Amino acid sequence: MTQVTPEKYGPWALVTGAARGLGYEFARQLAERGFSLILVDKLDDQLAESASALSANDDIDVIYYCVDLAQDHFMGGLLEAIGDRQVGLLINNAGIAKIGEFLPQSIDFLTAQLSVNTRAVLHLTHYFANKMAEQERGGIIIVGSLAAEVASAYNANYCGTKAYDVKFAESLWAELRPRGIDVLGFMPSSTATPGYAAEGSKMTESIMDVESTVSDALRFLGRVPSVVAGKNNRISNFVMTRLLSRMKAIQLVSSHIRKTFLVKGGS
Ligand SMILES: NC(=O)c1ccc[n+]([C@@H]2O[C@H](COP(=O)([O-])OP(=O)(O)OC[C@H]3O[C@@H](n4cnc5c(N)ncnc54)[C@H](OP(=O)(O)O)[C@@H]3O)[C@@H](O)[C@H]2O)c1
Repeated sequence: MTQVTPEKYGPWALVTGAARGLGYEFARQLAERGFSLILVDKLDDQLAESASALSANDDIDVIYYCVDLAQDHFMGGLLEAIGDRQVGLLINNAGIAKIGEFLPQSIDFLTAQLSVNTRAVLHLTHYFANKMAEQERGGIIIVGSLAAEVASAYNANYCGTKAYDVKFAESLWAELRPRGIDVLGFMPSSTATPGYAAEGSKMTESIMDVESTVSDALRFLGRVPSVVAGKNNRISNFVMTRLLSRMKAIQLVSSHIRKTFLVKGGS
């Protein structure tokens, strides 16, 4: 099994969307493994708080940079903040999710969602993969979603962006392995995060916790091109994608999303 360590990949891990949710948990688990951290998010106060909590670990260094990844030119300031620190692990985690009908959503919101979920991932990955190739080592996780596997109503733009993330990661897995770079497309299902809670669904027992979700990502980096988080989710994904027709799977997930997020009092 691949060991995710600074010795293998390099000393610094850059995590986007690190102020809270899965991003914070990635940062926490990577700190435990000895990575120094570059935390990126647009939530200023929360990011500072998270950086301060993670700095309690004396064995690592932590810096943070506040930026809106939807902006066209976000890379300049970020690279200045990073300086000559060697990023060995890139966790493309930040993402915008919003369940709702497609037609009423503003084109500005949908464009920002497209930018954060795909364009920012492309820019960060292109820059840091080149740096990693020079070092002949590195790791990149791109956080997609189970929505990349089965599309659904009320989630169209998000499904499209997450399909991009996973296919992009899988392609790079094949291309960058000979350059010493491990790439993983990671597909969480429902996970208990502030972002998930904000969508208004109840937290049921089938929802994964951030700790086991992130552990899965780190466990599979370097082993497979992409993976779904959690054994139960892997089984249900197998059923949805291999045993059901595409039409049936899309209808089932669409109906589940409507009941869970859009119908008042839904479970
Ligand atoms: N939780 C789930 O059930 C689930 C399932 C499948 C996939 N995922 C994916 O997992 C990743 C993390 O999700 P999460 O549930 O942990 O989300 P979260 O709780 O909303 O945290 C995401 C973090 O990313 C930040 N972010 C969003 N837009 C940004 C931007 N424009 N620039 C910089 N930072 C930005 C958020 O800041 P703001 O709050 O200010 O926007 C937030 O701090 C996402 O890519 C998501 O699509 C999550």
